Amino acid sequence: MDYRRQYVSDLLKLAPGTQASAYGWVKTRRDSKGISFVQVNDGSCFQDLQVIVNDGMIGDDDLKRITTGACVRFDGEIVESPAAGQAVELRARGAEIFGPADPQSYPLQKKGASFEFLREIAHLRSRGNTFGAVFRIRAEAAQAIHSFYHKRGFHYIQTPIITASDCEGAGAMFAVSTLLESELCSTPEGESSKWRLKGTDPAEDFFAKPAFLTVSGQLEAESLALSMTNVYTFGPTFRAENSSTSRHLAEFWMVEPEMAFCDLEGNMNLAEEFLKETISHLLDKRADDLEFFNQRIEPTLLKTLEHVTKSDFERMTYTEAVKHLESSGERFEYPVFWGADLQSEHERWLTETKVGRPVILTDYPKEIKAFYMRMNPDGKTVRAMDVLAPRIGEIIGGSQREERLDLLKSRIEESGLPLEPYWWYLDLRRFGSAPHAGFGLGFERFLMYVTGMKNIRDVIPFHRTPGHAEF
Ligand code: 4AD
Ligand code: MG
Repeated sequence: MDYRRQYVSDLLKLAPGTQASAYGWVKTRRDSKGISFVQVNDGSCFQDLQVIVNDGMIGDDDLKRITTGACVRFDGEIVESPAAGQAVELRARGAEIFGPADPQSYPLQKKGASFEFLREIAHLRSRGNTFGAVFRIRAEAAQAIHSFYHKRGFHYIQTPIITASDCEGAGAMFAVSTLLESELCSTPEGESSKWRLKGTDPAEDFFAKPAFLTVSGQLEAESLALSMTNVYTFGPTFRAENSSTSRHLAEFWMVEPEMAFCDLEGNMNLAEEFLKETISHLLDKRADDLEFFNQRIEPTLLKTLEHVTKSDFERMTYTEAVKHLESSGERFEYPVFWGADLQSEHERWLTETKVGRPVILTDYPKEIKAFYMRMNPDGKTVRAMDVLAPRIGEIIGGSQREERLDLLKSRIEESGLPLEPYWWYLDLRRFGSAPHAGFGLGFERFLMYVTGMKNIRDVIPFHRTPGHAEF
């Protein structure tokens, strides 16, 4: 057996009369008089291949084991299909069953399983229609992102996952330490494990100082942008916020471009181009999956995505946005006033009701943004930008960076952070500083936007959220 063989997506395009083998997992089997119809899929495309098994072509014992979930290979001939919605089907002459699946206990049954239930069997859910489509879109989107930046001369860099500096200054970081040991212990209920602390001095720890899982690759990306001009990083990031919402993960992926010789204007232009081009790519390359999401998950999806690729994003300052919200006449759960952090309900009102397409908000009060954002001449706001999308709210967060040493130092101190771990970050302003800017796209937020899926746990294969690290 070799990986170089035809996928179901290839077989569906073959001319009748071609001999072929179909590998995959059985979606369903339906028996009629003297004939069985088996739907097979290998995850290569949305459509299943229909396999026709006439009486006698496969031994009775084998046929019985070809049930939902079984892994099989069918050998036979591609023939024209009389059924609607498919040009061809495979007429089987033989089959090999690699792995049967007991119909009594196979958990991924035909229809009607809730997304909540499917999360509990995340190791199997990608065999179904919805999650097959989600993860194909995820894979295609990642490719589109790399090619978007590659075409524009951005260098793909890898920033560390373990870091000693807190990028967002928000304190929601997972510690990385070898001073903790897991210990098995017996309790009246049986065995469980608990932590044993081997020491409390960070100097004795693995990295000889406190270390954490990164919340963003930005600071290191800035270092490389200030030598390689245009760079981007695309990797996992971690946040220990205890928020169990449909938009937050403890482990999520972020795409972070960083550009030297670029200001907020250029940053906004890149973000807008980036979203439009990536969405266009998906409309072109994964039309089958998007059609499914449009039919079954979000009826306005295709219309919205097509609209987004063609229309200009609205741009407004935070101050203007607050004015619109204050005079909206809406009753929000959280009050709006200048200085307040915008909540998802505010972001949604702005994009869905006020504007009807993505909005880029800029120039937020410094108190609600991270220390590294460039101070405006008013001394009150910073050159921040958030891209807000209908249905999702914040999808991108970014800024022009503070490139002036003195101002940056005082912002770090004002934010209550120690200067010491940022010595190298400050060096970048000491030696050859340059105006620069960048942003981070939450990859899963983006996938929610393009698939219409309502819960962020359903656009990543194995989610990590408070209380959940299964699989
Ligand atoms: O706005 P954030 O916190 O920005 C940064 O981390 C910057 N350092 C990025 C940069 O300028 N290079 O996060 C960026 C994006 C958000 O807009 C959101 O889409 C996503 O990351 N995000 C999350 N996605 C899932 N789960 C979470 N807990 C998220 N927190 C942020
Ligand atoms: Mg943000």
